[in-house]
Amino acid sequence: MPPLRGPNVALRPWSTDFGDAVTLSRAWNDPDVVRWTTVPDDRSVEAARRWVGAEGARRDDGLAVDLVATEPGEPDRVHGEVGFVLVKPDRRWAEVGYWLFPEARGAGRATEALRLLTEWAIHDLAIRRLFARTNAANPAAGAVARLAGYDLAGALDGGVEVWVRDRPAG
Ligand SMILES: CC(C)(COP(=O)(O)OP(=O)(O)OC[C@H]1O[C@@H](n2cnc3c(N)ncnc32)[C@H](O)[C@@H]1OP(=O)(O)O)[C@@H](O)C(=O)NCCC(=O)NCCS
Repeated sequence: MPPLRGPNVALRPWSTDFGDAVTLSRAWNDPDVVRWTTVPDDRSVEAARRWVGAEGARRDDGLAVDLVATEPGEPDRVHGEVGFVLVKPDRRWAEVGYWLFPEARGAGRATEALRLLTEWAIHDLAIRRLFARTNAANPAAGAVARLAGYDLAGALDGGVEVWVRDRPAG
């Protein structure tokens, strides 16, 4: 992957270096991350270590990309994660997800991270449609999608809002 870096966020793959398993386990136990994203039942450091160890294979098969959002130039200072899952591989449609640690929120980092991921996916990975599912009860998540260039495409049951960003035609 190319260097993905903005003024306040750099993206890198999850790694068995940098203490990432401990970091990920901490995130899986954050109440907001638990409430608004999908976390595994086993949220231990050991489970996180297994997940990080398998991450390269998931990326290599092209079906999912999960990237650590860090402070630029400080790869072990982790702010959060942004990633996507290819949900319709034949159509090149992917669903994005993101979270930050509480202390990293409120400074535009999630928006910057999602923008970096989105531009890379559209321009370099030939993803044709990216979408985010947020909840109206979690307005910051929807705001991040909107600020990263996604349009509100519709609302589903349970307050779920769907945000879409398409690759430009041509
Ligand atoms: C969602 C999350 C990533 C947002 O992080 P963040 O650091 O607040 O994101 P940013 O600072 O990049 O942008 C948030 C935007 O939402 C806005 N916002 C925050 N709270 C809001 C609220 N209650 N109502 C409306 N907008 C709100 C902010 O003002 C900001 O917009 P601005 O830059 O125009 O001021 C973070 O809250 C989080 O990790 N939550 C738990 C996991 C989660 O919900 N993930 C998304 C699942 S779909």
